[in-house]
Amino acid sequence: MERTDAEALDRTDPLAHLRDRFDLPDGLIYLDGNSLGPLPRGVAERVGRLVGTEWRDDLITSWNTHGWYDLPATVGAKLEPLLGAEPGTVTVGDSTSVQLFKLLVAGARLRPDRRVVVTEPGNFPTDSYVIDGVARLLGLTVRWWSSDAEPPAAVLDDDVAVASLCHVDYRLGRMHDGAAVTRAVHETGAVVLWDLCHSAGAVAVDLAGWGADLAVGCGYKYLNGGPGAPAFGYVAPRWLDVVDQPITGWFGHAKPFALERDYRPADGVRRLLSGTTPVIGTAVLDAALDAFDGVDIAAVRRKSLALTELFLTLASDRLGAYGVEPEVPRDHAARGSQLCLRLPEAYGFVQALIARRVVGDFREPDLARFGVAPLYIRFVDVYDAVEHMAAVLAADEHRRPENVTRAAVT
Ligand SMILES: Cc1ncc(COP(=O)(O)O)c(C=O)c1O
Repeated sequence: MERTDAEALDRTDPLAHLRDRFDLPDGLIYLDGNSLGPLPRGVAERVGRLVGTEWRDDLITSWNTHGWYDLPATVGAKLEPLLGAEPGTVTVGDSTSVQLFKLLVAGARLRPDRRVVVTEPGNFPTDSYVIDGVARLLGLTVRWWSSDAEPPAAVLDDDVAVASLCHVDYRLGRMHDGAAVTRAVHETGAVVLWDLCHSAGAVAVDLAGWGADLAVGCGYKYLNGGPGAPAFGYVAPRWLDVVDQPITGWFGHAKPFALERDYRPADGVRRLLSGTTPVIGTAVLDAALDAFDGVDIAAVRRKSLALTELFLTLASDRLGAYGVEPEVPRDHAARGSQLCLRLPEAYGFVQALIARRVVGDFREPDLARFGVAPLYIRFVDVYDAVEHMAAVLAADEHRRPENVTRAAVT
């Protein structure tokens, strides 16, 4: 495999033109869109308008005249096709952690006679922390599922209220079979809550097809909604009228501006809202999602697999000599949109690559993680990135003092 082969793959890539929808810094190979996506074109203009006209000139009237009040629904509607969700089932607001809290409590309330939450030890920590908090609040027990060692049926019984699971694992990129796991959870009468942080915008998600109950995910990774972008929440149509989330703020009320004494939930997914919409962040996510306009998520998934396959082939070929092996599920059906390298000096390795303008991230204790975002990553980027990786290892750059000092955000 030569660089010209990667260039040839880019020439025939049906999604190649989508890279122009992003304002990427020159010469940067950005393999960190699974931590913070880059800036889509059109976002800066939207923020300029929002701040310079809507807020400055039109002030409070903008809630009606510039669509601020409807933003959660507007953005939710843009997300639905990316999530395979039914119309009117997705809204945005809060962080993923808060959405998880709200939907986990809501999920447990759908099964009030059951006392167990099932989840995995390999969760992103916020999931486990929030699950623990909700379990203590509601008097539930957490039951851990080792998905690499046993089928879901091993931990499911008629005492399980909710299974709260990450669709794609944040460290090694293992992807669950959404339909099969949802079916297994339903067979014992529990509900499933999917965390789609590492799925949305990069792999095919089919919430309606899976028969999922509830889902959450963040806006700032493959959806490119900017740092701290609002998260999304999904409620299946069959639960929309009954779902009872615990932060019953006025924005989720049936008539917020009637200022009634007592809470009555809004119809539909709007009842997931709590407080005033963070308009600036939500408008940024709204504009960012235009990068997905007309994009077939199945084609995104095909390109994602082609990119990770190339990455795997090149990394096995070029890095094995240094004792570094790629960690990625070999089975395409179980693979997210990322690849990891495991090495004791992973932190220094990532820093040395950043110095070469190849950005990935470090995950404790020994993983260098690289996300491939099919909308803007080229095959040639993967080729060049692996060449840089080999050069770092050959020159021992990952052991240099300037690369091993830890920063606050790793
Ligand atoms: C699986 C998963 N869930 C949740 C989060 C983050 O949650 P929050 O948006 O509340 O920071 C992350 C962040 O990387 C994540 O990987």
